[in-house]
Amino acid sequence: MLRTPDCKPCSQAVPVCAGRSRREAIGYNAAFDFKAADMTQDELKQAVARAAIEYVVEDAIIGVGTGSTANFFIDELARIKDRIKGTVASSEATAARLKSHGVPVFDLNEVESMPVYIDGADEIDASGAMIKGGGGALTREKIVASVADKFICIADGSKLVDVMGKFPLPVEVIPMAEKSVARSLAALGAQPVLRMKDGKPYVTDNGCWILDASGLQIRDPKALEQQINQLPGVVSVGLFALQGAAVCLLGTPDGVRVMKFD
Ligand code: 5RP
Repeated sequence: MLRTPDCKPCSQAVPVCAGRSRREAIGYNAAFDFKAADMTQDELKQAVARAAIEYVVEDAIIGVGTGSTANFFIDELARIKDRIKGTVASSEATAARLKSHGVPVFDLNEVESMPVYIDGADEIDASGAMIKGGGGALTREKIVASVADKFICIADGSKLVDVMGKFPLPVEVIPMAEKSVARSLAALGAQPVLRMKDGKPYVTDNGCWILDASGLQIRDPKALEQQINQLPGVVSVGLFALQGAAVCLLGTPDGVRVMKFD
């Protein structure tokens, strides 16, 4: 157990602060303490990315997500890269950014366990269930998260919702199953649209396509995740409910709110 001059004994996730004040260790910036009412969405994302450094475990391999909030986290993580063993990336883009900072990136097949997976979300509800995949990395995100002990969600306050579904639910599909899965999603009450890029179907890191299903009001996310998982041709659905967040660091006008889920 580590003890530092100005923080309580820490038994697990915070030992990056050893020998320094925790505030120094996490790159604390008084500018974020908090005139958040004046802060942009990016500044809120940056604030939660900094706060997430408290959950990084020394000498461990850390699972790293994808997206703009995850990018801020990567930039913060790079500052303490000598204190971790390395990372597992949830996308090619994340791997490239980590490597550009000189942070070691392991193949998931080389790794048996990780204490934490840290990533953003498109929506999160009061139970810790999330919609993810706005950046197209939902399948690898779900795989890496499944190997980690805890999912630490980092998000600006706009992502917290009462009922998920305003953000279209991403569903990654084998290309030949696009139409059959779309019909099944429509039967569930959604309006699925094939994600496009430059006039062609958007292709994931796994060579698959994404249907964005709008019009859902997701009141039972675990049941819907199971239902969509079972559709032939679905690679994965961007609902993270069966294995949701353990903690969410939410950037709000009053500061970083820590939400813990059972
Ligand atoms: C990528 C994701 C992202 O975590 C999600 O889209 C949130 O992105 P951002 O941090 O840019 O708001 O699931 O597939």
